[in-house]
Amino acid sequence: MSDQVNGLPQDPTWPELKLPELLRNDSVRQVHATIEKEWDFLQRSACQTAAGRALWKHVVHDPLAELLAGETYLRNLHDKIKRDHLNKAREISGVILAVRTLWFDSRLEFALNSPNGREAQVVLLGAGMDTRAYRLSCLKDSDVFEVDFAEVLQLKATILQAAKEDDQQKILCRAKSLTRVAADIREDDWLEKLKTSGFLPEKRTVWILEGILYYLTQLHAMQVLRIIAEKCTLTHTVLLADFMNKPSTTLSSSSFHFYSDWPDHLLPSIGFAHVKLSQIGDPDAHFGLLKDPLNQFNKLLSVPRSVQNHPDDGTPCCRLYLVEASGSPDQPKGH
Ligand SMILES: C[S@@+](CC[C@H](N)C(=O)[O-])C[C@H]1O[C@@H](n2cnc3c(N)ncnc32)[C@H](O)[C@@H]1O
Repeated sequence: MSDQVNGLPQDPTWPELKLPELLRNDSVRQVHATIEKEWDFLQRSACQTAAGRALWKHVVHDPLAELLAGETYLRNLHDKIKRDHLNKAREISGVILAVRTLWFDSRLEFALNSPNGREAQVVLLGAGMDTRAYRLSCLKDSDVFEVDFAEVLQLKATILQAAKEDDQQKILCRAKSLTRVAADIREDDWLEKLKTSGFLPEKRTVWILEGILYYLTQLHAMQVLRIIAEKCTLTHTVLLADFMNKPSTTLSSSSFHFYSDWPDHLLPSIGFAHVKLSQIGDPDAHFGLLKDPLNQFNKLLSVPRSVQNHPDDGTPCCRLYLVEASGSPDQPKGH
């Protein structure tokens, strides 16, 4: 008898994927059918990241993630994780998403608990299926704005409404307020739309750009970063963002565009006073999930950032930088 089915080694001890009952609910099923039929890869990436959080639930607490991800993306990632385990891979699929989520959570909490951050508004650009407004109590004094394409925000709201009708408890908003703003951040009017929705430019703000910058062109990404940097002249401004380096964008040349090999130089040049950069695998960016010293992230930590191909095997040095930048009117630029 073959020990492989559909290219997957069969292991009777590997747990099957258990889907939540609510994914069978008519309106939720319809939404996910529409996502598969009508959304482009950019919009669907929202479901892929939600699947990452759902399947790393032993470390990321996001009870709504599996519902928002949908069966297809859950199954795809579940199969990859299963294959990685059975092949004893050095890193398991989705680990990067888990580390990234935990890093953004911890830096957001830190920013909101610091003296400059109290009651700050929080803006998520390319919010996708993010549920921080429901899961992080550090947002209790914050007005939260989720910006994404209208289609994404609409279908997200429909799924969350179904969850609410099923169980009110599952879906308590922990933020002071949550406003969804339909906008394309490549257009000139997104900031205006944000303001019309209640965003106050002079109020302290934490900006979250998670899994979004590299989908934009260099021009659009820089426009967005400059608009945020300008806010440092008005109020205390914190930016939390992940950046790909150039080799990372070659992983999918049709999806990834913007990169910066040196975000810690780029951001001060446009107006941020402080920048702290971490890489996946650094002490503040592994959360105990990257134990193998030879996995691709740990192997890169000893290679200078200027090196583009690994000296041992010539493979591209694909890095993801987790960057925290800040500035205020009383802090001189670039300090
Ligand atoms: C990879 S997902 C990340 C979602 C979320 N930040 C997370 O980490 O789960 C990228 C999101 O950015 C959104 N997006 C991409 N380009 C955008 C644009 N030009 N304007 C608004 N949203 C955009 C997509 O619709 C998608 O929801």
